[in-house]
Amino acid sequence: MDVHESIEELRAGLRSRPRPVVFVPTMGALHAGHLSLVRLARIRAGERGTVVVSIFVNPSQFAPHEDFATYPRPLANDLSLCREAGADLVFTPAREMMEAPDASVRVLEEDLSRELCGKSRPHFFAGVCTVVSKLFHVVAPDAAVFGEKDFQQLAVIRRMVRDLLWPIEIIPGPIVREADGLAMSSRNQYLDGESRRQAVVLSRALHIARTALDQGERDPQRLRKLLLDELQGAPLARIDYVEIVDPDALRPLPVIGSQVLIALAVWFGSTRLIDNLCMRNLPT
Ligand code: PAF
Repeated sequence: MDVHESIEELRAGLRSRPRPVVFVPTMGALHAGHLSLVRLARIRAGERGTVVVSIFVNPSQFAPHEDFATYPRPLANDLSLCREAGADLVFTPAREMMEAPDASVRVLEEDLSRELCGKSRPHFFAGVCTVVSKLFHVVAPDAAVFGEKDFQQLAVIRRMVRDLLWPIEIIPGPIVREADGLAMSSRNQYLDGESRRQAVVLSRALHIARTALDQGERDPQRLRKLLLDELQGAPLARIDYVEIVDPDALRPLPVIGSQVLIALAVWFGSTRLIDNLCMRNLPT
């Protein structure tokens, strides 16, 4: 596995590598969820193709009050995890490499980005779209893998790729969970013992919602109340949003038809966790 810090080195490294090139963008602090994305990339690339992982903590997707400075950066460990998971090339650019000090161009997705997390993190998707665009230009992948835990990010990236006519296949990676159900996230390590114990309430609430949907519940208000009742049972949980939306448009559903996305964002202290449940082909 080769590690490149500069764009020129990465491009030169890629020239001698066979296609397809399958790309997994990350901010590092890798966990089993990321590794499952790298394995998916390996499967899509096949034995001969090339798997590229980027590790870059992107300043422009953090608001000034957020955790950019303290975001974990265990690079040596990340590199050995990438090697074990089957990456061929890892791109670890410095900030100066990715962002001119007087940069004045940003990539904005102006529909899906306004919903859900876009309301509490209005800067976030412009930062993500801009950095992912740059990474796509540098890596020029045939396909890229994004996790479904960040369901809205995946939807926004798909829209960006469609609207900017990029010939890049976007591959979704299923959510990977801890044994107790908590969705894996690099930010889980911020949780203290009691918050970590209570954080399982997100997946428990989604499980309750799934059972209700399986039993035929189609009223978003009643479903939302079930979710809120469960979340409010965790004393440390501070709800950012509980939304029941269409998984394509990300807009609230007046009544649940054949598909639904339940999306949650909940604070535990200064750590904001997200989780979701997407169900398609529901009997109507
Ligand atoms: O999901 C992430 O880790 C980041 O938002 C991404 C896609 C690597 C862009 O910085």
